[in-house]
Amino acid sequence: MAKYRADPFENKVDLGVGVYRDLSSNTPILDCVRRAETEVLAAQTTKSYVSAAGREEFNTAVEELVLGAAHPARRDKRARTLQAPGGCGALRVGAELIKDAAPNAAVYLSDPTWGNHAPLLGDCGLKLERYPYYDASSHELRFDAMLQRLQAASAGDVVLIHACCHNPTGADLSAPQWQAVTDLLERRKLVPFLDMAYQGFGASLEADAAPVRAVVERLPEALIAVSFSKNLGLYRERVGALIVVSENAERAEAVNSHMLHIARSIYSMPPDHGAAIAAKIFGTPQLRRQWVGELDAMRGRIQEMRLLLAGRLQEVTGGNSFDFIRTQHGMFSLLGVSREAVERLREKHHIYMTSDSRMNLAGIMPNNVSYVAEAFAAESGR
Ligand SMILES: Cc1ncc(COP(=O)(O)O)c(C=O)c1O
Repeated sequence: MAKYRADPFENKVDLGVGVYRDLSSNTPILDCVRRAETEVLAAQTTKSYVSAAGREEFNTAVEELVLGAAHPARRDKRARTLQAPGGCGALRVGAELIKDAAPNAAVYLSDPTWGNHAPLLGDCGLKLERYPYYDASSHELRFDAMLQRLQAASAGDVVLIHACCHNPTGADLSAPQWQAVTDLLERRKLVPFLDMAYQGFGASLEADAAPVRAVVERLPEALIAVSFSKNLGLYRERVGALIVVSENAERAEAVNSHMLHIARSIYSMPPDHGAAIAAKIFGTPQLRRQWVGELDAMRGRIQEMRLLLAGRLQEVTGGNSFDFIRTQHGMFSLLGVSREAVERLREKHHIYMTSDSRMNLAGIMPNNVSYVAEAFAAESGR
């Protein structure tokens, strides 16, 4: 980021950031957020403390959004939700919960995965393992190797799975693959920890939640870390939640009080402002409709850039080796080139991405797509 900022080249391209950008390169405040925020501020009468669990109406709305209002886990009172400081806060509280409940359990992360997963889950002392997930040079999932690795996990181990829009690969499990993973988790008595940071960025709010709902229907226990940084654009307000599903209502109650204890021992209570805005949007039909429209527009823009870039690459290279960009989901894909090629893209072409060659498609604009495609073709040797 520092190198990008310091580069005086007028047409430099930033594909390295982890946030959404609109066609003016802004990370916008959504209109629904502006409206909800005005209402929240007008109605607010105190800045007194909230509770460690955060806002009750927020937690209920998150459960409905992620699991669906009529999910059996909710009906049976097996789900408990804690408002958390962003998806990161939810991941960390979840990690602490696992550490307290099953100190010897290993947590399996996908290889590759988002760079913050290892510190967020490992620094509390949990043992981390990796399962093969994606081959960056062939642009394919390593699904058989994934199943084989998880087959060897011990009962009670935890498997972290990106619910949709895998970061950094953009490669998600298909419906039959989700089914096979769920079968394996059930058979091997493994616990899913689902990281839901991009609900609505894949296909829609409902479709992106479908695999999560199905996993939770089948298994006795699950953790879900939810983030509203991307889909509500509330990044710095730190809005997220941890949903924990337990095998029965009594256990869920015990888990809930332990989650509250963990929250108190780390940060006492979550920040309120962003969650108040989110709850206002979830609970006001007009604002919610506006949100869905704005979310559709963000997803549409990224999808359009995927098609545009893949199309230009096809024209420039005369082949289809970049077609994976077309079919993957969310903001990210791995270009699948060496560190040296990433450096050349930066030094020669002023195109910036992370050293693993992760590109953020929201950094592509109609006026830079040809330039980027030509540089990609030149430096990847295709
Ligand atoms: C895979 C993944 N999980 C979780 C998060 C959590 O984000 P935040 O703590 O900003 O809500 C992110 C954000 O980039 C992410 O990419």
